[in-house]
Amino acid sequence: MHKNRFSRIGYILAIAGSAIGLGNIWKFPYITGANGGGAFVLVFLLTVFTIGMSVFIAEIILGKIAKKDAVSTFEELSPKNRKYFKYIGFSFLTGIIIISFYPVVIAWILHYIGVSFNSLPASVNEAESYFLNYSQNSILSQIFYFTLVFLAIAYVISKGVKDGIERLNNSLIPALFLIFLFMLLYSFSLDGFGKAFHFMFYPDFENFNTNSILIAVGHAFFCLSIGMSTILTYSSSISEDTHIFKAALFVVIMDVITAIVAGLIIFSIIFTADASPDKGAGLVFITLPAIFYEMGSAGVVFAVFFFVALAFAAITSAVSMIEPAVMYLIERRGFSRKKATTTISLISYILGIMAILSMSNDFKELLTFGNKNLFDWFDFITSAILMPLGGIAISIFVAFIMDKNLVRKNLVPYMGEFLFKVWLFILRYLTPLFILALMLKELGVLDF
Ligand code: TRP
Repeated sequence: MHKNRFSRIGYILAIAGSAIGLGNIWKFPYITGANGGGAFVLVFLLTVFTIGMSVFIAEIILGKIAKKDAVSTFEELSPKNRKYFKYIGFSFLTGIIIISFYPVVIAWILHYIGVSFNSLPASVNEAESYFLNYSQNSILSQIFYFTLVFLAIAYVISKGVKDGIERLNNSLIPALFLIFLFMLLYSFSLDGFGKAFHFMFYPDFENFNTNSILIAVGHAFFCLSIGMSTILTYSSSISEDTHIFKAALFVVIMDVITAIVAGLIIFSIIFTADASPDKGAGLVFITLPAIFYEMGSAGVVFAVFFFVALAFAAITSAVSMIEPAVMYLIERRGFSRKKATTTISLISYILGIMAILSMSNDFKELLTFGNKNLFDWFDFITSAILMPLGGIAISIFVAFIMDKNLVRKNLVPYMGEFLFKVWLFILRYLTPLFILALMLKELGVLDF
């Protein structure tokens, strides 16, 4: 029944577009900075290529075999107890929650493209108060950019897989790579490059502990967009002649390269200015703008390119968060694509506005529950509970519940018997174990 499909390259760019996002360019560098650099990068790489890639492949074959929306996929592929297993498909709800805070960050990025042109803050202190003031007091400006972002996302989704998603990724992802290449070449010429390289690749176990391992595991999931049926949904429109193992390997490698290059670029700039690498979430919105200012007109050009690249990466990810829910409404509830897009966008839009308000001085009391405001709750619930749950459920389903011959038949031709066995082992034992540890730790049940 499947309408239009991705072309081979279109599919690869689309899953790359989903995976490469704020997680790579904004989050990866700052958590690397906070967790000791090289040692953290090493663990991150190990996890991405074992646990991360295994779940990634699991989602791909689910989508490829069933060619349906997420709920129907689990229903159709479970040999028994269909009415229970189909609920794994509702892991797409995680995407709806993420899409209500993720575009808030895109709204900041759009605002910072303007800031780069004419009003870069002159020092880190100034940059810090500027950012805090913007995120807490400029509600209207945030809502304005947030609305723009939502209209763009809804427009792309309403056009469908081929004319919307594929076309968007076909232009933005190559553009992103180009900008990054240019920025990387420039950063070679900076004095801080050597230090940045050393920081990223030489393990320093001093700032590294068991907690860092779990952060690395959690980030491997976030960074690859797994555990919420996104990759599954995109893969339901895969073309038959796609080599799934090569495609998965390619995307995972590109995802990792983007993160590492982002780190090299950012840390080169930071070390050149003798700034500190462990400034946390403010690295991109506070430390960098202040350094861009110091760099004079080169800094302005750099800043604009940097924020444009960040916006491209984030928008292609955001689009992929909505599509699974839209596909569900179309295939299971008989919605038209337009109506499904409008429904899901409206829900996320309203949640997103609430997330913005929850950070503002005027409304934060109303929208803070316990020790977190709504924005932080959305982030916490998705990364500490929903995403790990989705990840465990998907792995267990593919590794234990699904017809093993079907799985084998769909993978062995691409990866051979040996790699298939390794893959199955990881999916069966390592993945659930690590995710469970991550979840218990984040929920504060386990402390180590
Ligand atoms: N991978 C995206 C990033 O690195 C974030 C993300 C997490 C995501 N889960 C997702 C994107 C689901 C799309 C769909 O920024």
